[in-house]
Amino acid sequence: MGRARFITLEGGEGAGKSTQIQRLAEKLRARGEAVCVTREPGGAPGAEAIRQLLVTGETTRWSPKSEALLHFAARAEHLERTILPALARGEWVISDRFVDSTIAYQGPGVGPEFINELKEMVVGDAMPALTLILDLPVEQGLARAKSRQGKDNSAEDRYERMDLEFHEGLRQAFLNIAKNEPERCAVIDAGGTEEAVAAAIWQTVEQRLTPPLSQNSH
Ligand code: TMP
Repeated sequence: MGRARFITLEGGEGAGKSTQIQRLAEKLRARGEAVCVTREPGGAPGAEAIRQLLVTGETTRWSPKSEALLHFAARAEHLERTILPALARGEWVISDRFVDSTIAYQGPGVGPEFINELKEMVVGDAMPALTLILDLPVEQGLARAKSRQGKDNSAEDRYERMDLEFHEGLRQAFLNIAKNEPERCAVIDAGGTEEAVAAAIWQTVEQRLTPPLSQNSH
């Protein structure tokens, strides 16, 4: 069992995670819950500094091992300084990406054992109770991500620039994680309207996390 009020959203590029996280947080807050919205890589000052090393620059700038280690270094900061303290205060934590992203994105480069050992050492039992995997055909996601980059003019597109085969592999990797861990994971069709996706997410949260929700809503 993962941490009761800890939810992560995962998926490939352009799946609409950040919009959906804002909507889910608002819904929980409307019920009187305290919510900490955070993201990876990032979510703590040191982790945000590491993020800049990971999401910008040449696609080949890191060796696969260094890249996986940097993601786990950022995650260690994020867990110790943001996620675990918020959970200890009784808040909900919704993280835009977590360890499944390292399995999907860095797994092909370093192999599953390397990642599993780091996962055990860095994350241990601090796994989310629920992971929502937003699933979308790759080309649709990349097109959405590109139009977003155009708007906010950021250079955080190092992973988006990887080839189509890499992104197809990612989608399969996330679906495999969901298949192997059905109690923790739920696949959400991210191809519908924003409202439809939000409704599917809320239904899943209510169904799967009923005890923590009802305990807190008097
Ligand atoms: P974002 O675009 O969802 O903010 O995430 C930043 C990028 O970092 C995204 O392209 C996926 C990538 N990433 C990994 O490759 N491994 C990881 O462990 C995490 C958390 C993110």
